[in-house]
Amino acid sequence: METILVVGGAGYIGSHMVKLLLDEGYAVVVLDDLSTGHRRLVTGGVFVQGNLGDAELLDCVFSTHKIFAVMHFAAFSLVGESMQVPLKYYRNNVSETVALLEAMQRHGVERFIFSSTAAVYGEPEHVPITEAHPCRPTNPYGNTKLSIERMLADCGRANGLRAICLRYFNAAGADPSGSIGEAHDPESHLIPLVLKAALAGASVKIFGTDYATPDGTCLRDYVHVCDLARAHLLALEALGDGCGSDVFNLGNSVGHSVRQVIETACRVTGRDIVAVACDRRPGDPAALVADSDKIRATLGWKPKYESLDAMIDSAWRWHARQG
Ligand code: UFG
Repeated sequence: METILVVGGAGYIGSHMVKLLLDEGYAVVVLDDLSTGHRRLVTGGVFVQGNLGDAELLDCVFSTHKIFAVMHFAAFSLVGESMQVPLKYYRNNVSETVALLEAMQRHGVERFIFSSTAAVYGEPEHVPITEAHPCRPTNPYGNTKLSIERMLADCGRANGLRAICLRYFNAAGADPSGSIGEAHDPESHLIPLVLKAALAGASVKIFGTDYATPDGTCLRDYVHVCDLARAHLLALEALGDGCGSDVFNLGNSVGHSVRQVIETACRVTGRDIVAVACDRRPGDPAALVADSDKIRATLGWKPKYESLDAMIDSAWRWHARQG
């Protein structure tokens, strides 16, 4: 049984990864400092509370467990916050990742799967966006993710690290069991805010209604968190088979507008959700849609929950339980 170290395994996407790995028979060690994650989202495996930049702790983890591969989900990911306190992002996302890679090198672990983001592309020149699209992030969050991608490529050339970078578009949904899901504090993402508004009988803001899109609101490519986790599993198997480093987009290649998200949530929840048109949120591109042909062709990824209804339905099951 191979052991996978999931760094950030108590977060939204990491916790779904941990559940899938356990279901697939892997042994799992979770390292998370719980700065944004939640212990209750970790459904099994060995839990170690600590920071990914703690060299002593990492030495202890790598000496105690024979780690086959590392999956790295532990990042700060609020674009707006990254504009205000960039060094917090460079410290956590970049410096601490250097410490993790150094520890991997000390212990001879050479397989790495990295949570990257569509934010590495910046304002798109065209959609759908392929992996060959120029990378020009427009905020510190995207810069930190791109810096790590470059660092991984350098390490690959220098010491044989094999890394797969997965550039997520908009992660959405929750495990169908309703037992784990998205729990950010503060919450800034559209779907959880819409569902919270449905629960509370409150309104939701639409940031911008004058974009050059069919209904004037932004288009995003939502991808179910369980499909994201499944892509990591395929990447893990590929690294196990000896494949080299690579970069893949992860999205469904369909853009849904903010208004469509709200309408779908009304239908799925059976509740009225009042939407209030507001000014644009600074830095939001009009449309972000992935071309994900590469991962489909190379790793055989095929999303299971492609419809927005399915994503919102699973998220609703989780949010409704939270009260
Ligand atoms: N939105 C609203 N009202 C809200 C919240 C969001 O109208 O209350 C809009 C946003 O303006 C945007 C869309 O809903 O047009 C989606 O916004 P999210 O905050 O849910 O997601 P983003 O597309 O801004 O961000 C996501 C990831 C980031 C990543 C980014 C780019 O959460 O980590 O995609 O890939 F950087």
